Amino acid sequence: MYASLKSIGSYAPSQILTNADLEKMVDTSDEWIEKRTGIKERRIAASDEATSDLGEKAARIAIERAGIEKEEIDLIICATLSPDHLCMPSTACVIAAKLEIHNVMAFDISAACSGFVYMLSLAKAFIESGAKKNILLIGAEKISSVIDYTDRGTCILFGDGAGAAIISATEDKNLAILDVHASSDGRYGDYLITPGCGSKFPCSQETLDNKLNYIKMRGNDVYKIAVKTLTNDVIDILEKNNLDASAIDHFIPHQANFRIIEAVRAKLDFPIEKTVLTVAKYGNTSAASIPMAINDAYEEGRIQKGDLMLLDTFGGGFTWASALVRFGGK
Ligand code: ACO
Repeated sequence: MYASLKSIGSYAPSQILTNADLEKMVDTSDEWIEKRTGIKERRIAASDEATSDLGEKAARIAIERAGIEKEEIDLIICATLSPDHLCMPSTACVIAAKLEIHNVMAFDISAACSGFVYMLSLAKAFIESGAKKNILLIGAEKISSVIDYTDRGTCILFGDGAGAAIISATEDKNLAILDVHASSDGRYGDYLITPGCGSKFPCSQETLDNKLNYIKMRGNDVYKIAVKTLTNDVIDILEKNNLDASAIDHFIPHQANFRIIEAVRAKLDFPIEKTVLTVAKYGNTSAASIPMAINDAYEEGRIQKGDLMLLDTFGGGFTWASALVRFGGK
């Protein structure tokens, strides 16, 4: 039995935060942001929308496009760094309740921006072992809830959104997730961190006064390591599967920064027409970034059944992951 990505869905909140809006909030400029990151605007969830609300909307689309009944789903996993609740219940459980899917295994994973590809690795293992048949994966972020909008080093980068996929069992190898590589190096944990409101610095007036509940990032260090790691990771997964770049129909990298994507793409000599880019309109939506990008390419009619996608991502932890995935949907 193989695991197949059968459908994709996404949801982007309607409120748009442009670079011009950010110019009024911090000492920055549209020109600087676009030149350094390629981002023009990002979406921001409404104050009464939680991460689970975004995830639920994306999940409903993915379920409908998969052509299955929600009762056929036997596992729900959500990747997020901005869960509805710090400890429990998991955002996966909250989404399950909203979808009225009861009595199934549901849990969250924490792998920052690498979350969606990490989940693909789990889904592949659950299905190939015969343990599960239809798995709902959701990458969802209300990342604006953990951003300090006075810190110009981070607030310009991130946006809210959600993406979801159904991974189903198939006997057809031509529609399968071929391979997933996922890895980490915890020695770099401090480079990209939300220091407070966990067990180390529990939530207190002092933690909040020191803004430890927000994302802190050593941007330039992250940038350099991300380019090197993403490039090596892609070379590695292609080599291990005896493929070269020409075999790939769609290169779908994590949408953190256009310059990072461009550096990796150029090193691999990968055509820009085959590279999916959504960073300009959504910014970095962390665990939602890759499924939102797959969804946009799918809705534009670019992705056809059987097409080979190369996914590549990097995030806090540090974590990173790549995957070779044939599109198994309609
Ligand atoms: N507007 C104007 N100037 C700025 C801004 C801003 N928003 N932010 C920083 N600057 C200034 C800096 O203060 C610095 O000024 P100085 O030279 O006077 O000291 C100058 O611009 C250059 O700063 P750098 O940090 O070196 O700029 P860089 O070219 O590295 O771009 C950026 C910064 C965009 C953050 C980049 O480093 C980046 O994208 N890093 C990677 C982020 C990322 O990919 N994260 C991935 C994982 S995310 C996750 O897992 C959640």
